[in-house]
Amino acid sequence: MPRKILVTSALPYANAALHLGHIMEAVQTDIWVRFQRMRGHDCIYCCAEDAHGTPIMIRAQQEGISPETLIARTAEQHRRDYAGFLIGFDQFHSTHSPENVRFTHEIYATLRERGYIARRAVRQAYDQKAGMFLPDRYVRGTCPRCKSPDQYGDSCEVCGSTYTPADLIDPISTVTQTTPVWRESDHLFFNLGAFETMLREYVAGGSLQPAVRAKLAEWFEAGLQDWDISRDAPYFGIEIADAPGKFFYVWFDAPIGYIASFEAWRAAHAASFDDYWKSESASELYHFIGKDISYFHTLFWPAVLHGADLRRPSGVFAHGFLTINGQKMSKSRGTFITAQRYLERLSPEPLRYYYAAKLGSGIEDIDFSLDDFVARTNSDLVGKLVNIASRCAGFIQRGGGRLAAALPEPGLYREFAAAGEHIAALYEAREYPTAMREIMELADRANRYIDQHKPWSLVRDAARADDVRAIATQGLNLFRVLMSYLAPVLPHMATAAGKFLGCGFDEWSAVGVALLDRPIARYQPLATRLDPEAVAALIEPPPAGATGAATGAAMSADTATPGSAAVAGAATIGIDDFARLDLRVARVTRAELVEAPTSCCA
Ligand code: MSP
Ligand code: ZN
Repeated sequence: MPRKILVTSALPYANAALHLGHIMEAVQTDIWVRFQRMRGHDCIYCCAEDAHGTPIMIRAQQEGISPETLIARTAEQHRRDYAGFLIGFDQFHSTHSPENVRFTHEIYATLRERGYIARRAVRQAYDQKAGMFLPDRYVRGTCPRCKSPDQYGDSCEVCGSTYTPADLIDPISTVTQTTPVWRESDHLFFNLGAFETMLREYVAGGSLQPAVRAKLAEWFEAGLQDWDISRDAPYFGIEIADAPGKFFYVWFDAPIGYIASFEAWRAAHAASFDDYWKSESASELYHFIGKDISYFHTLFWPAVLHGADLRRPSGVFAHGFLTINGQKMSKSRGTFITAQRYLERLSPEPLRYYYAAKLGSGIEDIDFSLDDFVARTNSDLVGKLVNIASRCAGFIQRGGGRLAAALPEPGLYREFAAAGEHIAALYEAREYPTAMREIMELADRANRYIDQHKPWSLVRDAARADDVRAIATQGLNLFRVLMSYLAPVLPHMATAAGKFLGCGFDEWSAVGVALLDRPIARYQPLATRLDPEAVAALIEPPPAGATGAATGAAMSADTATPGSAAVAGAATIGIDDFARLDLRVARVTRAELVEAPTSCCA
């Protein structure tokens, strides 16, 4: 039975460029969605811009543009970057949309009618010059505990203590650099505590990751606090109907953006709203998120949904944070790599593969090591996978371009095809690294098969032409199975391989039947090696004159010719260019240690 599945990635804030951490989440989600579709399920992937909140309002003010202009501009960049990484959303919407306004009002109205909303006064920092209340992060001052200067209004980065902005010594508004005053105003609160029993049962239901469940146990232990869901004007957001001058806090309407995005898709596809948002059995709902936002997704969000008579998520899949060469991404170290910077230099699929090889179902941080990235791409994708196809293609071409009518080793083929169920279970469980490892072990076996049968030595003997064709047919069929298993990760390469072999890669079980006795197209290289210099250039060189930053030898910007290391689709050269090459073969007959020079000025 095909499952009905709705999947989301977290909504990126509409005031900043996407970086490789955002992309990791989108790739993890996209692989899962593509996998589900190959399995024949009805899987919809929705996302949106998270367009509201103080940072967006202030950023627009600083740029002298309207928030609407800012979010439209960012949305365009985000769309372009996601598309560059082959993220196949069904719908990419915005929280600043009519659908989101409608659902936010409706959900709030239901929660209020049921008595889950309370109103009470809050004392807050107020910037008189800007004429606005200040979120905690917009007040800085000296830590009341360790006396470190210039700390945020909610916590100290030096001693780790948490407090409120009113506790800071010499507080300053970061908006106008003036001293804030303290003002009271009424806020609206969502009574999270009323949902404790439901939430405890939901959490015990077992759909959450162990590490997330452990965190939830701590939160239950600490007690569920009422959640402040309103902010006073000026605020860029959705104004609350029964409280003019007050707006929904961005985190109230942001997850509702999942519903809004789905609704925009649904309206164009005549799907049932109730199947996806009213029933917990008619469909499945999964949110892919970073671990930093699990409180919102595993406590507030299920409670809000439940309170409004909507279904709760079937699962919330949290992942860890991306680090670069072992360290937190940092602008000053040049390791804050934007999606755009990457795409200007490299093609998306090596990174998709790298993420698949590293990011499993846990919440540990994931390291993007540039050296490891080059090594893995060149060894796995080029050296193992594509090598099978490129080794075999020529033999078929030379023999008339047609695959043999039978496989010489059908048992080996069946073993490859039979691995599909286990690999599918790994994808389902988001254990991509294990799946990649098993696929690469199969690739090793396929290469060994070719090595053992040496078609290149048989090809000289005209009487063995059928054997050569059979071996190459076996090799290409093994390649096809592997490509099918990797199609969720490498959709472009799968399309190119499909053109070459004359088959599709959109059905998981299609490899149950081998490709035999049919023509194949001319082979075009499916991947080329990554150039380490182009990869090193992902890290921004320090500004001229700066010293001491982490750099390697190959950091100059001029090594970063756009597309210089494109993995997929590199064109082949013509015979004339080929004739200009001076290729020589030599055999190393002896090698010995030489004494290191005592001084070297080179
Ligand atoms: N707008 C909120 C999400 C609202 S969802 C209803 C938000 N936006 S964000 O732009 O800051 O982050 C979007 C997603 O990217 C989050 O899941 C976040 O955890 C993830 N990541 C942000 N930085 C990351 C890394 N360095 N590594 C991996 N994921 C990271 O939070
Ligand atoms: Zn401190």
